[in-house]
Amino acid sequence: MIADLDTLERVALDALARTETPAALDGWKSANLGPQGILKTWMQRLKEASRDERPALGKRLNEVKGALERAFEARAAEVARSAPRADAVDVTEPGIPCGLGRRHVLTRTIDGMVDVFGRMGFSVADGPEVEDEWHNFTALNIPESHPAREPTDNFWMAEHGGVRRLLRTQTSTVQIRTMESTPPPLRIIAVGRVYRPDTHDATHYSMFHQMEGLAVDEGLSMADLKTTLLQFARAFFGPEAEVRLRPSFFPFTEPSAEIDIRMQVRGQWQWVELGGCGMVDPNVFASVGIDAERWTGFAFGLGVERIAMRRYGIPDIRWLFDNDLRFLRQFG
Ligand code: DAH
Repeated sequence: MIADLDTLERVALDALARTETPAALDGWKSANLGPQGILKTWMQRLKEASRDERPALGKRLNEVKGALERAFEARAAEVARSAPRADAVDVTEPGIPCGLGRRHVLTRTIDGMVDVFGRMGFSVADGPEVEDEWHNFTALNIPESHPAREPTDNFWMAEHGGVRRLLRTQTSTVQIRTMESTPPPLRIIAVGRVYRPDTHDATHYSMFHQMEGLAVDEGLSMADLKTTLLQFARAFFGPEAEVRLRPSFFPFTEPSAEIDIRMQVRGQWQWVELGGCGMVDPNVFASVGIDAERWTGFAFGLGVERIAMRRYGIPDIRWLFDNDLRFLRQFG
């Protein structure tokens, strides 16, 4: 009989060790320790045992009962600790990698340019990328017959309320919008996207960025324009940078010039063509109702991609827009 109790204890403990869930534990408890459980039937058998056997058997029975009760409590605690809950999170599962963000190389360039012009008293103005002919051409003194209006050079869009629209080809549109809404004196820059139907290659893209500048005041001259550009060049590219203006033509400035900046490109000093500039044409002032007898102004437009590409030695404009992180991670 004692041997049977030993077996009972071993079998019960084995079964207990295999319980994984609270339900299995409950089942084990009622089978072994419950009112109809196996130990209860042994109490019965104890009563039926002979006088000689009873003390030892009773002692052993109590031991087994105590052992099973203690083992049950221990196992119940383990199961409670490891049982998965519906809302449980598996903290051992690898997380979703979350890369540290950084500014795009063009955004860095733009932020740096805005910072320099901001320190010179220019505030940031804005205009839409979908423009009308007035702001992109007519008010900028670009005649009806000018080839710049050709369908092959523009992304023309459907007419809207009798107005032909296009994606702006230059940020000079913001000069007009600003002068229409704000009386002089003015000192603004405008940065943004412009669009031209160019075939993509290492130096052309159908979308790129320009920074426009406009100052309107009494008595401004070409010297103010060149000084402003020189101060920008030195602040942005270093104190040894230089500016050179080459005579050119733009319909909205008179006189007009191309802007070259001498900067270091991978250790080499180089003249780099960065944009156009000039004194605001009186016809432009007339189209926005500013008195050209009293006010003068200068304007300039700089290519942001050009500046970024030269500054960081990027040989292909397409790399700026491929969104290839292996490239973009190198900056910032
Ligand atoms: N809008 C011209 C372009 O896209 C650049 C430009 C030239 C802007 C002369 C100006 C300027 O403000 O005065 O080619």
